[in-house]
Amino acid sequence: MSLTPIGEPRQKITVASLREKKLQREPITCLTAYDYATARLVDEAAIDVILVGDSLAQTMLGYENTLTVTVDEMLHHTRAVRRGVKHAFLIADMPFGSFHVTTDEAVRNAARFVKEGGAEAVKMEGGEKRADLIRRVIDAEIPVAGHIGLTPQSVNVMGGYKVQGKSLQAIEQLMRDAVALDRAGVACLYLEGIPREVAAMITAEVTTPTIGIGAGPECDGQVLVIHDILNLTFGPPAKFVRRYGDAAALISDAVQAFRADVLSHQYPSDSESYHLPKETQQVLENVLERKQGIRR
Ligand code: KIV
Repeated sequence: MSLTPIGEPRQKITVASLREKKLQREPITCLTAYDYATARLVDEAAIDVILVGDSLAQTMLGYENTLTVTVDEMLHHTRAVRRGVKHAFLIADMPFGSFHVTTDEAVRNAARFVKEGGAEAVKMEGGEKRADLIRRVIDAEIPVAGHIGLTPQSVNVMGGYKVQGKSLQAIEQLMRDAVALDRAGVACLYLEGIPREVAAMITAEVTTPTIGIGAGPECDGQVLVIHDILNLTFGPPAKFVRRYGDAAALISDAVQAFRADVLSHQYPSDSESYHLPKETQQVLENVLERKQGIRR
C-alpha cells in the first residue's frame, strides 16, 4: 500500500528520500523491471526503487547465469525502463566484467548507464575489496548501490548459489564489507542470501538503507525479481520467493484461446474488421455487377 495520501502528488524518490525512509523506519519497496510496460506498471504501483538487474540475463534473455550479459544489453533494457519510470529511483546493474579490470573503465561504464541509460545510480556486486573503486565512481557524481552476501556474479568462486555468512568468520567478513561500503558512501546496500540475524546486525550498524532479498524482515527494504513474483521463471522458486500472481497461466490461457479462435474461424469477427465507407462499397458493388454482366 502506498503511504501517499490519495489525491496528493507522488514525490520523486531520491537518495535522500531513501535515507529518510530508513530514519523513519518506513519500509523501502524495490522490484526489478526490464522493459517499458513492466516499468510503467511497477512505477504506477508506487514502488520506491526499480532495479534493472543483471538477472535479466536469465529472466529476459534465457542465459544460464548472469555472467554473459554485456553493458550494451544492459543499456538497451535500462533505456526502455527509463521511458516507463516517473517517480521511482532507477538503479542499473553493472554487469560482470564492466568494473573488474580498471577503475577508469569502471567509471566510464558507470557514466554510460547515467548518460545513455538514464539510470540514477549503478549497482556493483562485491564488498570491502570494491570500496575504493566505488568511492571513485561516487566521486564522479554517480550514486552507487552496493550488493553483498550471495553475489551471483561470483557463482564460480562460491561454487553455486549458496547462502553466505553462516560461520563466525564469514559473518565478520560480511560486517567488514558492509561497513566499508557504508563508509564509501553507497546510496543503499543490497543484502542477498544471508541469515536474517546477520542482515539485522548489518542493518543496525550501517547508516545506508539495506534492501534485502533472502535476508529476512529486519532489512530497511525488500526487493524481489518481478519474474519470480509473477511465476515466469520456469523452475522451482527459492525459499524467499512469494508468488503474487500467475502470469505464466495468464499468458498460456490467452495464447491457447487465440489459437482456438483462429482455428475455429471465430477470430476476427465482423466487428473486429475494418469496413469500406458506404458510398465506396456501393460503387464497388456496381463495378462488380457490371463485370459479371459482361462475362454472361
Ligand atoms: O540482478 C538482480 O535482479 C539483483 C537483485 C536480485 C538484487 O541483483
